[in-house]
Amino acid sequence: MKKGNQRKQQTEKLILAAYAVQQKAYAPYSGFQIGSAIEDADGKIYTGCNVENSSYGGTVCAERVAIFKGISENMKLPIKTVVVVSSTKEKWPPCGLCRQVIAEFCDSKTQVIFGNNQKQFKTITFTKLLPEAFSKKLM
Ligand code: THU
Repeated sequence: MKKGNQRKQQTEKLILAAYAVQQKAYAPYSGFQIGSAIEDADGKIYTGCNVENSSYGGTVCAERVAIFKGISENMKLPIKTVVVVSSTKEKWPPCGLCRQVIAEFCDSKTQVIFGNNQKQFKTITFTKLLPEAFSKKLM
């Protein structure tokens, strides 16, 4: 199969995985269900949903759940793709906290795809989403 087609298939797989895990969201407070699928450097997929908490502050976003699952299961870095899908009409990009966490594990090629509840998407390079990121490269 040609490289472009392979990429397209992998992107479709990631998107399907993100919508599937969205169903598992624990969101009794906001009611917003979010799903995320992360593709690691080997093409392996890790998924996560938002997990809310009665303290509110203890809530963890879908993207961070997926990344932390990946890290704890030997995910190969850097992250190639981050997909996040929301249950809203608007496409929700990763929040600031998630961007900082993505910055820790990405490279200049990492892509972010965010979609809404109509299966509409926006794709953007992570460095455009968080330019001048604070990261270990500066230390
Ligand atoms: N949320 C995510 O899971 N990812 C984001 O990037 C934005 C926000 C979740 C957190 C909370 O459960 C709900 O969406 C409303 O903020």
